[in-house]
Amino acid sequence: MPTVDNPTEKTLSAIGINDPIAVAELFARERLRYDQQLAAKVPDEANYTLMKNAWLGRKSGVLTLITENWLKPAPPALKPIVGQSLNELKRHIESSLESLRVAGEKSFEGVAAAREKIDLSLPGVIRSIGTHHLIRQVFQEIEDIFFSIGFSVVEGPEIETPYYNFEALNIPEHHPVRDDMDTFYMELPKGAPGPLLLRTHTSPVQIHTMEKRQPPVRVIVPGKVYRRDNPDATHSFMFHQIEGLAVDADITFCDFTGTIDYFVKQFFGEGVKTRFRPSYFPFTEPSVEFDASCVFCGGSGTAKTGGTCGKCKGSGWIELFGAGMVDPAVYGFVNYDPKKVSGFAFGIGIDRLAMLKYGIDDIQVFFQNDVRFLKQFP
Ligand code: FA5
Repeated sequence: MPTVDNPTEKTLSAIGINDPIAVAELFARERLRYDQQLAAKVPDEANYTLMKNAWLGRKSGVLTLITENWLKPAPPALKPIVGQSLNELKRHIESSLESLRVAGEKSFEGVAAAREKIDLSLPGVIRSIGTHHLIRQVFQEIEDIFFSIGFSVVEGPEIETPYYNFEALNIPEHHPVRDDMDTFYMELPKGAPGPLLLRTHTSPVQIHTMEKRQPPVRVIVPGKVYRRDNPDATHSFMFHQIEGLAVDADITFCDFTGTIDYFVKQFFGEGVKTRFRPSYFPFTEPSVEFDASCVFCGGSGTAKTGGTCGKCKGSGWIELFGAGMVDPAVYGFVNYDPKKVSGFAFGIGIDRLAMLKYGIDDIQVFFQNDVRFLKQFP
């Protein structure tokens, strides 16, 4: 029988095949060629695809070439034997390729199972667990101190009407105090009722609380507040406050200073001294500013390394927060009788308090979410 490089690329007559026995031999050789190729292949997905394309590929697979070059142009006498042999070869290829695919899948599963096997002796993956932000931790610390003396927590809206943020706190329109606190007003759709603003302090929650409750009232109000302040080391346009309010039948100035003194000592330690200075807030009368002896230099005004203490600028005192006895005019807005009740209120800037306690010299680090900073307060 004549030999050619690739007989499937030529017609039967071109390779000198003209009787059924020669046809059978030709197909036997193709089958052997296929079996040898298959035996050399490791069963996996890539080899399955390779063999499938080479032999069953629709455009130039061996079976397509046989159909085009051997079957179609075959003389009528040979057509039945060529067709029958082609079908047998096709069945053989299809069934053996299926076995290759199944064997490939099994070995793939075996490899994957081996990869997924759990080795209990290996060290575990330690995932870092988040913690509360330092501001949240300070809120919690302060809340716990006030819980211990009978205060409870209330919250209020961050979006306020000018009435609650100003007027009901005895700050009428055009009062100069508004200049310090003017804030972000909301852009409202045309026809929406009244202006709305981001609250400048937590004090409006005093009004909400007294509108809802009758004395005795003893609450603290943690929350975010907003001011049109330019950012620097001690200012942020959004910061945190805790408001305090105590109103009852006979609350005196002594209750007020005693409560604040207790809080400051619990928060900063027994060694800290407190003092108050006259101040002004339209919603408290008298109003005070509370100072604590400097926690950095122990109130001496001299830094531990010598020289003037940079934190209190040598005064030995650090300003903590504003407070005062509730102005009787405020009771008028909530239908309390100023002749029957009295009380005190305070508003603590939490960010600055945290800076003082933990020796942080820039308020901006609270908002930058730098993990190197946050990790220092687990
Ligand atoms: C008030 O906000 C009053 N509502 C406090 C008050 C409440 C007085 C109840 C009397 C009775 P003041 O504007 O001083 O007061 O702000 C309170 C504290 O917020 C300040 O002491 C300071 O710690 C903090 N603070 C003010 N502005 C900023 C700012 N831009 N960034 C960070 N902290 C600020």
